Amino acid sequence: CGIVGYIGHREAWPIVLKGLKRLEYRGYDSAGISLINDHGLNIYKKVGKVQELENFSAGKNLSGTIGMGHTRWATHGIPSDRNSHPHTSNDGRLTIIHNGIIENYAVLKEELASRGHVFNSDTDTEVLIHLIEEIYKKENVDLLEAVRLALHQVSGAYAIVVMDEEQPNELIVARKGSPLVIGVGTGEYFIASDATPIIEYTKNVIYLNDNEIALVKRDELVIKRLDNVVQTPYIQELELKLEMLEKGGYEHFMLKEIFEQTRSIRDCLRGRIYANEGRVQLGGIKEYADKLKNIDRIIIVACGTSWHAGLVGEYLIEEYARIPVEVEYASEFRYRNPIITEKDIVIAISQSGETADTMAAIQMAKERGATIFGVCNVVGASIPRLTHAGVYTHAGPEIGVASTKAFTAQVTVLTLMAFYMAQQKGTLTQAKLVELLTELDHIPEKIEKALESNALIEKIAHKFKDSRNCLFLGRGSGFPVALEGALKLKEISYIHAEGYPAAEMKHGPIALIDEEMPVVVIATKNSSYEKVISNIQEVKARKGIVLAIVTEGDTEVRSMVDYCIEIPDASEAFLPLLATIPLQLLAYHIALLRGCNVDQPRNLAKSVTVE
Ligand code: G6P
Repeated sequence: CGIVGYIGHREAWPIVLKGLKRLEYRGYDSAGISLINDHGLNIYKKVGKVQELENFSAGKNLSGTIGMGHTRWATHGIPSDRNSHPHTSNDGRLTIIHNGIIENYAVLKEELASRGHVFNSDTDTEVLIHLIEEIYKKENVDLLEAVRLALHQVSGAYAIVVMDEEQPNELIVARKGSPLVIGVGTGEYFIASDATPIIEYTKNVIYLNDNEIALVKRDELVIKRLDNVVQTPYIQELELKLEMLEKGGYEHFMLKEIFEQTRSIRDCLRGRIYANEGRVQLGGIKEYADKLKNIDRIIIVACGTSWHAGLVGEYLIEEYARIPVEVEYASEFRYRNPIITEKDIVIAISQSGETADTMAAIQMAKERGATIFGVCNVVGASIPRLTHAGVYTHAGPEIGVASTKAFTAQVTVLTLMAFYMAQQKGTLTQAKLVELLTELDHIPEKIEKALESNALIEKIAHKFKDSRNCLFLGRGSGFPVALEGALKLKEISYIHAEGYPAAEMKHGPIALIDEEMPVVVIATKNSSYEKVISNIQEVKARKGIVLAIVTEGDTEVRSMVDYCIEIPDASEAFLPLLATIPLQLLAYHIALLRGCNVDQPRNLAKSVTVE
C-alpha cells in the first residue's frame, strides 16, 4: 500500500491525490483521502484506481490544508469502498491510514468489541484506530502519546498517519517495518511511503526509522522513539529528479523502462570497471574483500523477478569465482530452519528494498551471524539500511509494476560481483578479466542493438496474442532467463506461461505441446547450443510453434523454427542480459494487443510490504 500526508499552507487535496498516483505502483485496489477543513473531517474513498476516487470526489468539498491519503493492496478484507482507507474511530473523530499488517488484530478486535466498539470494515487497520481512540479517551493524554501507547500493544508492521478532527494543526506518523519519508518544506511537511510524491515540493527529507513516531505540525516536527526518547532528525537531500518519474513520451512506463536499459546498465557499470587493468571496484563491499577470499558459501535470498536475477548470479559466481551458491525464495528460507553460519555471506536482492519476506530473511540470517550484502535499486530504502554492505543497481525509479530495467541492473551488479569475487580469489587470470571487463564495458551498445528488434517482436506478438499457454525454455544461465520471460508474460498478459530448463521438458511439459502451443526457446550460441537444438527438434516433432532467441547470423536454428529474434553475439557471461530484452518486449506487445493494463496488471503490486 502507499500512503501520503500533507500539512502546511497549501490545499492538501491536489498534493495528496497526485502523491497517490505516484505511489499507485504499491497497490491499486482502492484509494481514499481524509481532509480537515472548516466543516470538520471529510473522507472520500472508492474501490479501484486513484482515478476512480478522483472522479467520485469531483465537485465535492475538497478544501483543507491538512490531509492524507492511501492506495491499497488488499490483505485483510476484499477490495471494497468500506475496506478502503482511511478508517475512523468509533466516534468518527480520529482517522488513520496504514501500510502493513497488525498481526494481533483479531484479539484486539474481540476485546474492543466487548467494550462496545462497532467496526465498519474487515480490516486490521480499523482495529488500531479504535485502540488509539480508547487510550486517548481513557488516559487523558495527547494524541502523540495515545498513538505511542497503542503501538506498544500491537505486533506486526506498520507505517501510519493519524489525524484528529479536533486537532487540525497536527498529524501523527509512525513506522515499524514499512517505509515512511517526511519531506521538509517551509511551514509545511509532506509524508509518503517513498520520496516520489515529495520531490516536486522539496528535496529535503527525513527517513523515519523503525520504532519511531513523530508529531508533525506546520512549523514543528518532533521525532521520538517508541520508548519516548526524543530523536534529532537527520535531514537528507534527495538525488531523485522529477523527470525520472514521468513517461517521457512513451505510451507506458514499462516501454520507457525497457528502452532505458542501455542507459541504466551504463549507469550501473559507471566507475566500477577498470577494463584495461582487469579490475572491478565495488566501494560498497570493499571492506569485505578479505572475507571474500576465504568464503565457503553464498546464499542469495530474494522474491519474484529479483529471485530470477539471483539464479543468474548463482551461475556467474559459481562459474567465475568458484564459490558455491544457493538461491532461496526469501519466503521459504525464513520459515525453514536453514543452516547459516558466521562464515556465510547472504546476498539479498530487491528492487524496492522493502519486500517484507526478504527483510525477514535478512533479519534471521543476521541474527545467526551471517554477513549480509544488499543489491537494491531504491536508495535509502529499508533493505540497504538493514544490510552490512551492498551495491546499488542505479537503474533509476522503476514505475512499471513488471520489473524490466531493475532486473537487468541486478544481473549487471551480480556479474560485477562475480568478477570482483574472482579477482579476490584469483580464480580468473588477469588477462581473462581484462577480456571479460572490456566486453562488459560495451554491453550497453549490444543492448541498444537488441532493442532494434522491437518492430519485429510486435509483429510476432500478433501471432501469439490469442494463445492460452506458453512455454519458455533455456539451459544454463538461459534457464533463469526463460523463467523471467514466462513471469513477464503471465504478469502482464494473463497468459499462462511456464519457464523450464529445456532438457526437463521431456519429463512433463512436453505433454502440453500441440500445434497451438507457442514455445519460446533461448537458443543462442553458447556451450549448450547443440543440446538446445535437440530440444527444439523435440518440440517441432510434436507440431509445437517455436520462437527462438538466437545469436545474430544464426542460420541453423532459423531453418528449423517458426520465428526467430536475433541478439548480438556475446560471451556466455553476458547472454542473460541480452536474451532478456526480446522477452520483455514480447510480453509488452502481447499484453498491449490483449488490451491489458501493462503498467498496473491486476492483483499485483510493485512493492509487497506484507508477508
Ligand atoms: C513484487 C513485484 C515484482 C518483484 C517482487 C520482488 O512481486 O511485482 O516485480 O520482483 O515483488 O520485489 P523486490 O522489490 O524485492 O525486488
